[in-house]
Amino acid sequence: MMSGQQYYTASVTMKVENLTKVYSSSTGRVVSLNDVSFSVNKGEFVSVVGPSGSGKSTLLNMLGALDRPTSGKVFLDGIDIFSLNDSQLATVRNDKLGFIFQSYNLINRTTVLKNVEFPGIIGGMSDADRKRRALKLLDFLGIKNKADFKPLNLSGGQQQRVAIARALMNDPKIILADEPTGNLDTKTGIDVFNLLTLLSREFKRTIIMVTHNPELAAATDRAIHIRDGSIEKDIINVERWAFFC
Ligand SMILES: Nc1ncnc2c1ncn2[C@@H]1O[C@H](COP(=O)(O)OP(=O)(O)OP(=O)(O)O)[C@@H](O)[C@H]1O
Ligand SMILES: [Mg+2]
Repeated sequence: MMSGQQYYTASVTMKVENLTKVYSSSTGRVVSLNDVSFSVNKGEFVSVVGPSGSGKSTLLNMLGALDRPTSGKVFLDGIDIFSLNDSQLATVRNDKLGFIFQSYNLINRTTVLKNVEFPGIIGGMSDADRKRRALKLLDFLGIKNKADFKPLNLSGGQQQRVAIARALMNDPKIILADEPTGNLDTKTGIDVFNLLTLLSREFKRTIIMVTHNPELAAATDRAIHIRDGSIEKDIINVERWAFFC
């Protein structure tokens, strides 16, 4: 029989140990993250909240290996990702992580379909498989009819759906979203949030989402509160947790 400890370890998908990020520039030194440690379980939907400038995006950028920390470690499925070289890190990022940003970060000179296919191109998926999967994702997100449009000709909510489809292209274990509803009106924001909830509940994806919206944070499994680069509190939503377990 598996002990509780073993079971806990087995379900941890991301472990963050003593993460610190210091930015140095001509204007001085900013400790953006200060000795942050926590673990995230598989399938957990975690929100990250806190005042502007508290270090939320810095944290997400480290978790997503978009930038290296000054010190500390991030383990993804037991792999110490910052011990990898840049090319290995890029592979982990493309295979295991999906990103969604407030400003969508789509490539506007090409089509919606090509934007969604993009991580598949990097991952070496065949042309046919890539196109089939991208169209399936666009269909799942209700915007297949926009496949040949340029992103700028879509509404904000539709562009964010394209970004979600792109984030799902390589079937990532973890989805990192930095204020994904920040540019959207309330209703469209709730639609996008409900999609993320669906990915977490039905498809057991691990989601880490920065938000300024306390109602959305309260509807996730757990809210990590950041202040001045440190974890101020880490609150598990008991009702959601019972459902999750
Ligand atoms: N590339 C950088 N160079 C220098 N300082 C930076 C850099 N990126 C972030 N910072 C600083 O680190 C601190 C945390 O910034 P961060 O973007 O993580 O905050 P945030 O919590 O995401 O804020 P917001 O809610 O406004 O998006 C800020 O003081 C910011 O000025
Ligand atoms: Mg930010």
